[in-house]
Amino acid sequence: MVRINSNYLKLPGSYLFSEIARRVAAHTAENPGKPIIKLGIGDVTLPLPKASVEAIHRAADEMGSADTFRGYGPEQGYEFLRELISEHDFKARGTDIEPCEIFVSDGSKSDTGNIGDIFSNENTVAVCDPVYPVYVDTNAMAGRAGDYDPETGKWSDIIYMKGSEENGFVPEPPRGGAAPDMIYLCYPNNPTGTAITKPQLAEWVDYALEHGSVILYDAAYEAYITEEGIPHSIYEIEGAKKCAIEFRSFSKNAGFTGTRCAYTVVPDELKIGDVPVNRLWNRRQTTKFNGVPYIVQRAAAAVYSPEGREQTKALVSYYLNNARIILDGLKSAGFKVWGGVNSPYVWLKTPDGMTSWQFFDYMLDRLGIVGTPGSGFGPSGEGYFRLTGFGSAANTERAVERIIQGKI
Ligand code: MLT
Repeated sequence: MVRINSNYLKLPGSYLFSEIARRVAAHTAENPGKPIIKLGIGDVTLPLPKASVEAIHRAADEMGSADTFRGYGPEQGYEFLRELISEHDFKARGTDIEPCEIFVSDGSKSDTGNIGDIFSNENTVAVCDPVYPVYVDTNAMAGRAGDYDPETGKWSDIIYMKGSEENGFVPEPPRGGAAPDMIYLCYPNNPTGTAITKPQLAEWVDYALEHGSVILYDAAYEAYITEEGIPHSIYEIEGAKKCAIEFRSFSKNAGFTGTRCAYTVVPDELKIGDVPVNRLWNRRQTTKFNGVPYIVQRAAAAVYSPEGREQTKALVSYYLNNARIILDGLKSAGFKVWGGVNSPYVWLKTPDGMTSWQFFDYMLDRLGIVGTPGSGFGPSGEGYFRLTGFGSAANTERAVERIIQGKI
């Protein structure tokens, strides 16, 4: 008889954001007509940049004409987009990443989840805690996580590197004991909104090089970096091309959460033993993926046009301004807060010793605001809560007012 992948049975209930959506739907059913402000999932609300929309129209016309129609594209992405990415996101910043090291995809969630395909299930895995749940859940699905303990909220075989107020939610590499093989880092960080400095990231790169680990670096929020001294790419760090894979996305900068386009950098220099990892990822992608739609890649390419860059900058500024409104408002109301400066996310300590889910219920029932409970991001998130700057400015201001006044 056929057997299932029993690792799936070990996963707790449902994916974090599905669980939140379920609770919000139940709340709405019980309180019809009650106005709800959603600052939970990191989903954008403004429309695509005009340059991308125009590119979509042009590309759609091309697809509708026999002489410009395109079928399957290259699995790695069209050259026109990979060249623009290489030029603008890397070479313009002094980092030499070539188009052949870039793999265009349908999202960083998929890529950070799928990357495990090319690594042995015997590898040990380390994550920062709090953590974007995809890193943990996909390793659990692959059988790398051991068993889940509902008491502690931890998987037996995952190494949790604790982010805390003391270390500013930027854990240091684990010392003592065997070094983890696969290390997930996300900066600017989801969920805490904190950024990593160059010296801090250099410590990680040195650690990975010393121990033969690979760093899986999720830089989906790179566009939100406003401060000097914060690396935009891990490849700004000497030696990183030998030990790191980087994930970037068009979702949060250009509003592609529903349009779907991202890319992953696998440098030629990254080798495990004498095996080039780029070749493995290429093998994986060409087998399991048929590429991002031409129309979508044209929309992504338009992000790099002069107009597209201006329009994208305006989107990011808008969300950053929302984050600042949340940050300032919460501070004035006496909350302890982090993030919101190099990130669209604001991370707050729940008041009066409330658990994350208790505060979620308070926010939803009393204030009509949806946020994300910190404990959903791992055990070290307990007692914290995340709000996003991705709402509309009006709703963000309304939400902050409600929080300050403690009522709708
Ligand atoms: C989040 O809210 O953390 C985001 O939805 C993450 C994502 O882009 O999947």
